[in-house]
Amino acid sequence: MKAELTDVERGYAVYTRRSLSIYDRFVLGFLNQAVWKCPTEELLTLYRAHISTNHLEAGVGSGFFLEKTLPESEVRLALLDANRDCLEYAAARVEKFRPEIHQENILESIELPGAGFDSIGLNYVLHCLPGNLETKAGLVIDHLAPYLHEKGTLFGSTILGTEIQIPWLARVMMKRFNTKGIFSNENDSLGAIMEVLSSRFKTFNVEVQGCVVLFWGKGLRDGFQRRLKGLE
Ligand SMILES: C[S@@+](CC[C@H](N)C(=O)[O-])C[C@H]1O[C@@H](n2cnc3c(N)ncnc32)[C@H](O)[C@@H]1O
Repeated sequence: MKAELTDVERGYAVYTRRSLSIYDRFVLGFLNQAVWKCPTEELLTLYRAHISTNHLEAGVGSGFFLEKTLPESEVRLALLDANRDCLEYAAARVEKFRPEIHQENILESIELPGAGFDSIGLNYVLHCLPGNLETKAGLVIDHLAPYLHEKGTLFGSTILGTEIQIPWLARVMMKRFNTKGIFSNENDSLGAIMEVLSSRFKTFNVEVQGCVVLFWGKGLRDGFQRRLKGLE
């Protein structure tokens, strides 16, 4: 008999070699454009603006954004994901950068070797994680921030589930994904992500496109750094 998956595992178990082979067409091609109303080009623009040559990607999926936006130059790239299939699939796609690979659950504290990063990508991951957005985004950023250089940028996007206009087809799909545990975003609001970013970064930005909030935060706040170091 198959063991029941935990809520955290249900957020990443759906990404198998098979589903990853259609991820770009189904999620990035169809859902983003027709359902979430956030064309993938918007996410590419976010990546192009913030990705650096010393980059950590958390929640790698198919590796599409890395392949499309990393520069041709010398790059240090680290991939972090709870799902081995995603890590292998994405790593194969950006093989030329010889990425570091870390299989970790970002809801738990993580241990990464080596120096910090100038950019961290967190794209379409938060809506896959169980819990309320303020708590889960806070935890994830607390786990990633120690690996971000002081002036570095953390950026990404997540699909919101409340307090925005949600077209009917998006509502139907979201309900289905939430029932299956692929998404846990029914109560995820813009206010929650703003609260998390504003308490941790000196500068931050959010922009809503369809059902998606695109965000970035730059420069860790002094109080936040002291809290991370256990001084407050
Ligand atoms: C919807 S995909 C997004 C992939 C990619 N960032 C993109 O935008 O195309 C979500 C990714 O987050 C990963 N993920 C989900 N829950 C996770 C967790 N608790 N810890 C680490 N990675 C997780 C999944 O395995 C998957 O690679």
